[in-house]
Amino acid sequence: MSQSAEQIRVFSKSFTRQEPIGDQAIEAAVAILKSGRIHRYNVGKDEISQAALLEKEFAGYMGKKYCLACASCGSAMYLALKSAGVKENEKILCNAYTLAPVPGAIENAGARIVLVEITDDYTIDFEDLAAKAKPDDVKWFMMSHMRGHMADMNKILDICTQNNITLIEDCAHTMGARWNGQLSGTFGSAACFSTQTYKHINSGEGGLLVTDDPDLIAKAIIYSGSYMNYDRHLSRPNDTVFDAIREIVPNYSCRMDNLRAAILRPQIQSLDAQCERWNRRYRLLESCLNQIPGIHCPERDPKEQYVGSSIQFTLDTDKETVIRQFLDTCLARGVELKWFGNKKPVGFTSAYTSWKYFDNLPELPNTDRILARMCDMRIPLTFDLADCEKIAQIIADVADQILPREAA
Ligand SMILES: Cc1ncc(COP(=O)(O)O)c(C=O)c1O
Repeated sequence: MSQSAEQIRVFSKSFTRQEPIGDQAIEAAVAILKSGRIHRYNVGKDEISQAALLEKEFAGYMGKKYCLACASCGSAMYLALKSAGVKENEKILCNAYTLAPVPGAIENAGARIVLVEITDDYTIDFEDLAAKAKPDDVKWFMMSHMRGHMADMNKILDICTQNNITLIEDCAHTMGARWNGQLSGTFGSAACFSTQTYKHINSGEGGLLVTDDPDLIAKAIIYSGSYMNYDRHLSRPNDTVFDAIREIVPNYSCRMDNLRAAILRPQIQSLDAQCERWNRRYRLLESCLNQIPGIHCPERDPKEQYVGSSIQFTLDTDKETVIRQFLDTCLARGVELKWFGNKKPVGFTSAYTSWKYFDNLPELPNTDRILARMCDMRIPLTFDLADCEKIAQIIADVADQILPREAA
């Protein structure tokens, strides 16, 4: 590491500061504002809305037939579940390591959650999944690629096919990631992406639902609040699919507007290049952190082409006082880490035990053990490689000061 001890006493950049929106997106946004036509269906007779163009372009990027732009990924997940046919009280499998909008979408759909254990590398536990994926009991699986960690998708598909389970992917953290060359979000019947500020493309809030299923997308378009303007969508099946459902699907008003769509369209063009920039930072941090005694980054399967927009690592200790001291000391030196072992849901972390709106949350000893030691850090692209080195050096200093004391 090249930084002197004095230079790296405190890291001063913000962990929540994203890069500015590019000029092309700003110009497109200003044009929408000047036109006054911000609502996606407020377009001239022969005009195509920014939202419709975004849907066509994102479906093209994903190689999927259809895309729907939504108000958020949470609303896209809810619409995907409803449109796939989830009924009141049906059970939905879900990995226990995910974030609150995922169980929230399941609860919103009136369904019950069946939480599945995770492994030491933070992906879903196949053994527990196979044990819980009973065809006479469960028909759905909302798989969250939480913090960008993808399980072996071929094994997932095998378990789903063998048990007649419909897979829906939460790709909030895997836009642009691939499993064995295939894009995350192309494995399930539907997949949902987030365009919220901390994700891989940024419109403040927003979500994108993709699928190849004409019935699913037609329902989702009407559910999203099309006011019967579905003919304004480019990424859609023909009218006969809508004719059959247009009066039996309610309007839940979860649309995206033209302003956000205009901001997002140019970002799709640069998505793959941005993913590579994240990965350069991730790989540097990963190699530095793995050299620190008492800290381990998860092993990643060579088939997983992740997008390292955040990094997680496991501490050797599960002693709460030691972990809190480690986190507080890092924070005092400007390094903001989150901790999934916190019993209280705070600032973008929430352990499954806090989703008390579900009855009978199970005991998941492996997930408990893993979350109790797991730290989490954002990697915004406003950090350069030298910043990543500084951060790793501070974490190494603090670990040296605090973690070995516990070991002794
Ligand atoms: C794993 C995961 N899934 C889904 C979502 C929902 O995204 P949104 O905020 O766009 O609703 C989030 C949000 O941070 C998330 O972290």
